[in-house]
Amino acid sequence: MKILVVGGGGREHAIIKQLKQNPAVESIVCLPGNAGIAADAECVPIKATDIDGIVNYVKNHPVDFTVVAPDDPLALGCVDRLHELGVKCFGPDARAARIEASKVFAKDLMKRYGIPTAAYEAFDDAEKALDYVKSCPIPVVVKADGLALGKGVTICFTREEATRAVRAAMLEGAFGTSGSRVVIEEYLEGPEVSVLAFTDGHVVRPMVSSMDHKRVGDGDVGPNTGGMGTIAPNPCYTPEVAERCMKEIFLPTIAAMNAEGCPFKGCLYFGLMVTKDGPKVIEYNCRFGDPETQVVLPLLKSDLLTVMMAVEDETLADTPVEFAGGAACCVMLASGGYPGKYEKGKVIDLGHAEAMARIYHSGTGRNDRGQLVTAGGRVLGVCCTADDLQTAIGKAYRAADEIKWDGMICRRDIGKRALGILKDQF
Ligand code: AMP
Ligand code: GLY
Repeated sequence: MKILVVGGGGREHAIIKQLKQNPAVESIVCLPGNAGIAADAECVPIKATDIDGIVNYVKNHPVDFTVVAPDDPLALGCVDRLHELGVKCFGPDARAARIEASKVFAKDLMKRYGIPTAAYEAFDDAEKALDYVKSCPIPVVVKADGLALGKGVTICFTREEATRAVRAAMLEGAFGTSGSRVVIEEYLEGPEVSVLAFTDGHVVRPMVSSMDHKRVGDGDVGPNTGGMGTIAPNPCYTPEVAERCMKEIFLPTIAAMNAEGCPFKGCLYFGLMVTKDGPKVIEYNCRFGDPETQVVLPLLKSDLLTVMMAVEDETLADTPVEFAGGAACCVMLASGGYPGKYEKGKVIDLGHAEAMARIYHSGTGRNDRGQLVTAGGRVLGVCCTADDLQTAIGKAYRAADEIKWDGMICRRDIGKRALGILKDQF
């Protein structure tokens, strides 16, 4: 089979490595891929957001199955266009992708169908939003409506911060057009859990749970990032929480999307907070998480391609999705300055890391001497599995310590909180 994967980060690298385990896969093309993915797939420099380019490529180079991994092409209707050509795809169509692409859509859906989430108000008028934050309960969370590279969320502990956040999003265009509408919502407290789930619009098969570490600094300080590391499974996702999530969140969300006439097929990512009143939805993503995928897929025992094709064919009910026991840890290595300004083109020394861990490339390239160099904010994900979390973390950091480049940063405490929770549980 010929497979096409749209995207070019660590998540796509993890997906491609997993797809390659199926002996029926003859070749994988990745648009645009990166320097690391090039070792596992043919990379063609067509941007993931260039939907016409992708469609033209597929017209000239027929494929048997396509995986559209990032949010932007999904929201832009990449799957709709490929389906028009008769190409089988994994990923939601544009109408279903609104569950991530519009926070207002997602919040209204949850309200209408009684799915637990933070209380909120939506605004497209800046004056009204500014008025609202004069008297709303504090802390409060201000969210740009549209896609904003994970940066459209501001947690405000004072009224001044809330005012600034509304102004930045709605009047100063800090998130482009994504911020012309905002959601202002109740601040929730509790541990966060990410659950990715396969769904074909009929059944939902949650994957092993995970925990992201979104802040740039150790101890969860500093600005939000795309994610600085992950562990799986997440110890806060107890069997009781899982059962409530299935009943109160996962199944109702699938049913709500069907009732709205936009069935969701693909990987639905539930960003959850386990509050004292039970699990609540913080956000939905219409795709695999990054770097959640890097810890979840190595634990998948079932064949990924078989599961993805069952999602497309709506036969997931007959397809087992099984995970191994044990645990996984992914430490992200990033460019100095990330998530703010950073330099690219730093030569990467991998040491012996590739023999010690799965190295997923997020933002890498080659310089004109053919050397592996940094080409993004998040650069490499170093991932290890083991029978228990502590061992997985130790292995991942030992491998990460092999890797060097000028200005490299990484958090030293990935999984530390999870280990603390595990100790308290036993
Ligand atoms: P989001 O992009 O919606 O996932 O938000 C980014 C991060 O902001 C989340 O992972 C949470 O840590 C935090 N966050 C978002 N919404 C809330 C909320 N209502 N209460 C507390 N923290 C939140
Ligand atoms: N790691 C968070 C995300 O993929 O949105």
